[in-house]
Amino acid sequence: MSRILITSALPYAAGAKHLGNLAGSMLPADVYARFQRSRGRETLYICATDEHGTPAELAAADAGMAVSEFCAQAHTKLHAIGRGFGLSFDHFGRSSSPQNHRLTQRFAQQLWEAGFIEERVTQQVYSNADKRFLPDRYVIGTCPHCGYEAARGDQCENCTRVLDPADLIHPRSAISGSTEIEIRDSKHLFLRQSLFAGKLRTWIEAKRDRWPLLVTSIALKWLDEGLQDRGITRDLEWGVPVNAFEWGPNPDGQTPDIEGLAGKVFYVWFDAPIEYIAATWEWADAQAAEAGRDPPADEAWERWWRQPAAADVTYVEFMGKDNVPFHTVGFPCTLFGINETLASDGTFTPSNNAPWKLVDQLKGLNWLNYYGGKFSTSQKRGVFMDQALDLLPADYWRWWLTANMPESADSSFTWEQFQDQTNADLADVLGNFVNRILKFTETRFDGAVPAGGLDGPLEARLDADVLAKLRELTENLESREFRKACASLRQLWVLGNGYLTEAAPWTALKTDPERAAVAVRTGLNLVALFARVSEPFIPFASETVALSVGEAFPGRWPSLDGSRVLDILPPGRAVKAPDVLFRKVEDAQVAEWRERFGGPEGAA
Ligand code: MF3
Ligand code: ZN
Repeated sequence: MSRILITSALPYAAGAKHLGNLAGSMLPADVYARFQRSRGRETLYICATDEHGTPAELAAADAGMAVSEFCAQAHTKLHAIGRGFGLSFDHFGRSSSPQNHRLTQRFAQQLWEAGFIEERVTQQVYSNADKRFLPDRYVIGTCPHCGYEAARGDQCENCTRVLDPADLIHPRSAISGSTEIEIRDSKHLFLRQSLFAGKLRTWIEAKRDRWPLLVTSIALKWLDEGLQDRGITRDLEWGVPVNAFEWGPNPDGQTPDIEGLAGKVFYVWFDAPIEYIAATWEWADAQAAEAGRDPPADEAWERWWRQPAAADVTYVEFMGKDNVPFHTVGFPCTLFGINETLASDGTFTPSNNAPWKLVDQLKGLNWLNYYGGKFSTSQKRGVFMDQALDLLPADYWRWWLTANMPESADSSFTWEQFQDQTNADLADVLGNFVNRILKFTETRFDGAVPAGGLDGPLEARLDADVLAKLRELTENLESREFRKACASLRQLWVLGNGYLTEAAPWTALKTDPERAAVAVRTGLNLVALFARVSEPFIPFASETVALSVGEAFPGRWPSLDGSRVLDILPPGRAVKAPDVLFRKVEDAQVAEWRERFGGPEGAA
């Protein structure tokens, strides 16, 4: 049985986290991880904060904090929010960890020594007032094309033309506003991605039938536009330092320009994906520490990432569509470069290293919008992750976001739809079913699973219907079709309600107590089944439901081999109705939240 390695795109420590970030990577990854665990597969779900880069530096400066302190705080907060939503990370790491420093540096050294990294002198904007180099987008000035006065050095927001900072009229620092800026030469390292264009295309073409169209089309578009070599270093202070002084010569016998590279760090998009691996290392170290053991040998975490040990691992990545190029092109190039050596005749041969694993399945998602427009921190439009948990329990959000996941197209959050769907599915269908059958068992069957009576045609039909739906649900989850999976699960719940209405134990009780016993026992078994199969979606309520019928939580995914799926609870087992599972979302709440977070008006 294969092991499952899961990563979701690493949230920026400095970024605001709205519901779209949750729906676009962490939540689908969590649903999938919970499902795989309950199937009995050895599963590792890894995530972390993405902490480097200029936005983090600037956010820290704004907050009057050291950037390391700022990121530590952001990490703790994000981890807590993730737990609040029930995200079942096996490890939630930090891209600033010592493990990621070591691994990023080790990879860069290997790439250099294999000849895949090149030094180039580039022209960078330096701000005398800020005493630092400015990334392109932190230089602002007047657009030479349209005259817009606040154009950014990478692109004009007004006319959308791509710019170079040197194009700007009256350029100034976006940080201090100072015009005392100049162009300086600066040595940088470039990953020679263009060498890998052919290899990448072959690799992606082979995924065509297995990856979503969204993903392969984005990847191929990048390749069609011509793969550029990529600068992997920056003139910043916060990041993984370039350790060129440790490097040997490249295949041409050239040693790196230690002086020219002093004080530089790797580009955030170089070290962040490496953190997927480094966070697995952090996980192994943390496990050992918890057990009071010394840090484990590398094999303990490399078994998830390096061949041949990782041969039985299926690696699945989850991310928003903007991240797809970095995961289908950027990161694979890094790993190709470590796994291979390039001969002078241009052919690749496997290097002597045990190769690192590349992604097997990649789920890319579209955007979740808010009333058809963007979630916006500055305009205070939309609900952010921490606020959402103050309004309603996590399961409401998990359910709605999974059922409306932006899989085949962008989707939109509206309070009205959110209210309608959560009330209908969670309160009216699932909640009502659980409550109805358990209350009846308490009052009429002494709160215990009844024995006696024989299944009839109604139960046989239910059994067949449930099994068919279960198979459908399982397939949809295996193929990461989350909207469809929610529809299957909802239909399962509906089958339960339909059965109870038809079997009507409250009526049967008067004339045929054995029939009533069968119906109640069957209903209670449906409750137990629902607890198991709802757990990936709504883990908190599922736990309450499982406990109400005395089941362990989390339970195992039911077997689909055709044997009775509704034979879970032993007769005599004590059961107890839970408090209201899902309170309805009221009109007054919707009105208040629309006011507070913005409604349809002002959608941009
Ligand atoms: N922080 C990035 C974003 O939010 C995602 C990084 S994913 C990783 O867009 F692979 F680079 F880590
Ligand atoms: Zn312009």
